[in-house]
Amino acid sequence: MFSYVILEKVKKMEETLYEKLDKLKNSKEYAFHMPGHKREEKTGPFADIMRMDITEIEGFDNLHHAEGILRKEQDFAADLYGAKDSFFLVNGSTAGILASICAVAKEGTDIVFSRNAHKSAYHALYIKGLCAQYVYPEYVAEKAFIHGKIDPQDVKKQMEKTKAKVVFITSPTYEGIVSDISSIAQIVHEKDGILIVDEAHGAHFGFHPYFPQSAVKMGADIVIQSLHKTLPSLTQTALLHICSDKVDSCEVARWLSIFQTSSPSYVLMGSMSRCLHLLADHAEIYFSQYKKNLGKFYSKMKNLTCLEVPDPAMLQRWFQTDTDPSKIIICVENLKDKEGKKFTAKQLAEKLLADYEIQIEMVSENYVLAMTSIYDSEEGFRRLEEALLDIDSRLMRRSTVNMEEHLPTNCDVKAQPVMTIKKAIDGKKEKRAWKDCVGKVSAEYIYLYPPGSPIIAPGEMMTEQVLKEISIYKKQGLNVLGPADDTLKEIMTVK
Ligand SMILES: Cc1ncc(COP(=O)(O)O)c(C=O)c1O
Repeated sequence: MFSYVILEKVKKMEETLYEKLDKLKNSKEYAFHMPGHKREEKTGPFADIMRMDITEIEGFDNLHHAEGILRKEQDFAADLYGAKDSFFLVNGSTAGILASICAVAKEGTDIVFSRNAHKSAYHALYIKGLCAQYVYPEYVAEKAFIHGKIDPQDVKKQMEKTKAKVVFITSPTYEGIVSDISSIAQIVHEKDGILIVDEAHGAHFGFHPYFPQSAVKMGADIVIQSLHKTLPSLTQTALLHICSDKVDSCEVARWLSIFQTSSPSYVLMGSMSRCLHLLADHAEIYFSQYKKNLGKFYSKMKNLTCLEVPDPAMLQRWFQTDTDPSKIIICVENLKDKEGKKFTAKQLAEKLLADYEIQIEMVSENYVLAMTSIYDSEEGFRRLEEALLDIDSRLMRRSTVNMEEHLPTNCDVKAQPVMTIKKAIDGKKEKRAWKDCVGKVSAEYIYLYPPGSPIIAPGEMMTEQVLKEISIYKKQGLNVLGPADDTLKEIMTVK
């Protein structure tokens, strides 16, 4: 049974970093120190921010050697989430993912790795010359275009097949699909391994039973969360939690000092402080209202006749796992407008922006994704509701569907690695025309952004199937990125 006990147990700080910065903002203290704006900007949109933008001055501690206020804030974060140790990240989850993999994986070894990982995790594979033993998100027939959960049995098989002692899993996915972390953790620990969970999209987990529990409480050894993605905190702010004795905190700190700036922004850290204390003090109020808003929204969406917004129960049925109701998935499949022209997800996103001034997070092949948080207002939900119902009233279902339009997602096409990412990138390379790439090994990533997990990674065979898939994404106007030549006329391949 879920309870708020944890929040009641969190020990309050006498003065938070945010409060200290706010006090400094209004003080007469003169700045003979960095930054060069001297906290002297008097007007304009950055004036208030610059008044709080400092360097490691007396009383404000040093993130890379935290002993004072920043130590207390990081301990507070650990307490709040129930971790053993927590680190502030000012370079997003990206820095935490890089540091955690580098800290626990030995150079050149195998790592069990979810294929739908963010590119930062792939960069860690490159840095340490690791050999990824992929586990793939489940294929779910109803909604084949959304990545499903990772099957714990696949993790087990890959650990038994290889000598991997580190497992890296992305959960939740961009769309909010959560894997069974406790079963995965049990398997990993039976084999004396370490489980890292990229929970970049789940910093709001564990504060209310309407949302999934955090991997911090499910047995993961390291968990990385972007505060800025789903909670009210400035862009780039994130947390790395160490949750077990199996991880050497000093080694993680050493890698963080490599990947994070030596001048961490106090504005960013102040916003983390504000966010964490707001959660500790008011989570119940915010999350109860949030649940109400989402519940009302999902029930209104039952009136749609063409567009489809699956509610949490439907998603759980489809994906047979926990899902995050904060991610609103709007499916656009087999639809046409009143003139009989095919209506796509991209058109929905464009229409929402042009006609209703609603900007959504992501457009994929057959759906758009709207991200919500505890800061969304009732008015915001109402606007989205009305816009979707209005657009829906002008759509119709298509009776015949061209099968060519139905694509597998990038995770259904299994990678064919021939060498490590590092070998492919650092070895001899040559550019080849797109049409001549079949049967060659790529030296570049090709991915859809967002979410940014690769369709092909360096060191992998470029098959006819994978190239066809990429061409179709491109034709549909989706964001295919990665190669230096983004027209995809030429691809860098291994010589
Ligand atoms: C699954 C996942 N992990 C990690 C990241 C990186 O997070 P950040 O932007 O906080 O560096 C992202 C960013 O989109 C992501 O989607």
